[in-house]
Amino acid sequence: MRRLVLSSPSAVAAAAAEEFARAAAGARGRLRVALSGGRTPRALYELLADPGAPYRFRIPWDRLAFFWSDERCVPPGHPDSNYRMAEEALLSRLPVPPAAVHRVKGELGDSDEAARLYERDLLREFGGPPAFDWVFLGLGADGHTASLFPGLSAVHETKKTAAPVWNDALKSKRVTLTLPALNAAKTVAFLVCGADKAEAVRLTLEDAPSPLRPASLVRPASGNLIFFLDEAAASRLSR
Ligand code: 6PG
Repeated sequence: MRRLVLSSPSAVAAAAAEEFARAAAGARGRLRVALSGGRTPRALYELLADPGAPYRFRIPWDRLAFFWSDERCVPPGHPDSNYRMAEEALLSRLPVPPAAVHRVKGELGDSDEAARLYERDLLREFGGPPAFDWVFLGLGADGHTASLFPGLSAVHETKKTAAPVWNDALKSKRVTLTLPALNAAKTVAFLVCGADKAEAVRLTLEDAPSPLRPASLVRPASGNLIFFLDEAAASRLSR
């Protein structure tokens, strides 16, 4: 596991963009990427798409296929849609063919059906269980990642690679990649910013892994796990 502590959220985005651009430039064949949702990754996506920044021209966009680490069960144009955020900040600004964008069908409103269709898409694209080249993730203050929230059954899924979620506190239906899918990835990169995440970062990185803190169970078999943290999010780490 690598931990990079940067001075600010924009420095976190730049460090993650550099690492991703370097990995993508050095890879051969198709690159399958799972994008995270939430607010944090928007700055990264905008930076990757920015023609004036030193990342866009290094990435073989025609060889990338895009998926999502999780999605809310809302239409693609809904303000809460993780697809919409990535489309606005990244995909709409790049030469990415529609066939390379594997959206979760949140508009169905039925998380079971959307999860089933997403898993079918994953199996078809990978020719078997997914092994993403790169997965971006965020971290919630409660220790969740993707839509793997503490106490929910999706955290304990050991066979499916996509699962439906009902978060009663958020009154939100979701579809999420499961731990088998996340831990089969070649690289998992967390981007975490803000003092409100500091305790979750400390517990995730320094306490024993626990289903009460699902992010702590993300340990890719490849061993390539990177935490991009700003100083505020890293402020409670002991070393
Ligand atoms: C989502 C994300 C979720 C997010 C964390 C952090 O759909 O909301 O997948 O897991 O990454 O909640 O969110 P912020 O980046 O907004 O703090």
